[in-house]
Amino acid sequence: MKKIAVFTSGGDAPGMNACIRAVVRTANHYDVEVHGIIRGYDGMIKGNYIPMNNRSVSNVIQKGGTILKSARSEEFRTAEGRKIAYESLKENGIEGLIGIGGDGTFTGLKIFSEEYDIPVIGAPGTIDNDLFGTDFTIGYDTAVNTALDAIDKIRDTADAHDRIFFVEVMGRDTGYIAIRSAIGGGAEMAITPENRVPAEGIIKKINSSESGERYSHIIIVAEGHTPGYANHLAQKTKEAMPQHDIRVSMLGHIQRGGSPTASDRVLASRLGVAAVEALLADKSSVMVGVINRKLHFTSLTDAIEKEKPLNVELVRIIEILNGRIF
Ligand code: F6P
Repeated sequence: MKKIAVFTSGGDAPGMNACIRAVVRTANHYDVEVHGIIRGYDGMIKGNYIPMNNRSVSNVIQKGGTILKSARSEEFRTAEGRKIAYESLKENGIEGLIGIGGDGTFTGLKIFSEEYDIPVIGAPGTIDNDLFGTDFTIGYDTAVNTALDAIDKIRDTADAHDRIFFVEVMGRDTGYIAIRSAIGGGAEMAITPENRVPAEGIIKKINSSESGERYSHIIIVAEGHTPGYANHLAQKTKEAMPQHDIRVSMLGHIQRGGSPTASDRVLASRLGVAAVEALLADKSSVMVGVINRKLHFTSLTDAIEKEKPLNVELVRIIEILNGRIF
């Protein structure tokens, strides 16, 4: 293989740049030319490629976002769009493809490799940590630390006023960000898409914990498929307990930005190297991941289709360690 391309797609995640850097420098190490595709699948269709060398990725390891930009492409969902993308890859002499992103990115790669004879490798880049086949995705650790920093600050003011705070974090299909930041932030409860406790459940727990004294409570809510769910829970709780001072804080997209943590930089670097080496070893249609600290390859089909359940041990210890009021 003499020439490959790398792109980022879907929601950006801190550490994507570290992964691009690792891909470019590993390709260079093996004398393979590498091009960056700008704006994911959209750039593939439009022929938006840039040649990259070691200098193109200097000074990016510490930066959030993605130097290759990201976009969602409706056109790539169509057979015609994918045909144009394939022709454009061929015109540019690209013989292998590395996509950094989440399940949407991998679904595109999988379909593409079924239709055309081009090897593809996926590197998991999403703050949600929702991909089967890897213990951690690139960006997850940074997002949790960003959420934690905010939760610590919210706790100061919650405590000063003895308020109940509902803090909404990201996580569309899983509550990974919610449970880890709840444990780290000492929150009293985490509501996740896997465990959508209705408002009544929360109210019951707060009631059963009332001892006459007032306390502040922090309840972490993963947004799931309905961003703003924390508002709904807060409103219902206020109706049932008008004596409590209740506030909502939505952390939103700040969780997607910022300088990646050491863990994310190292993970991204490992996965970038592994992705190029996988292409050179004639692997295709797999995601590179890390399980029990070791590199692991999972078919794109499994990475997309198999569920990654929440770590039950983490779920259990929230109530034991942080359940001051429950
Ligand atoms: O998939 C990553 C993610 O950040 C989710 O946690 C969140 O629900 C979604 O992307 C937000 O997407 P957008 O940036 O398109 O609003």
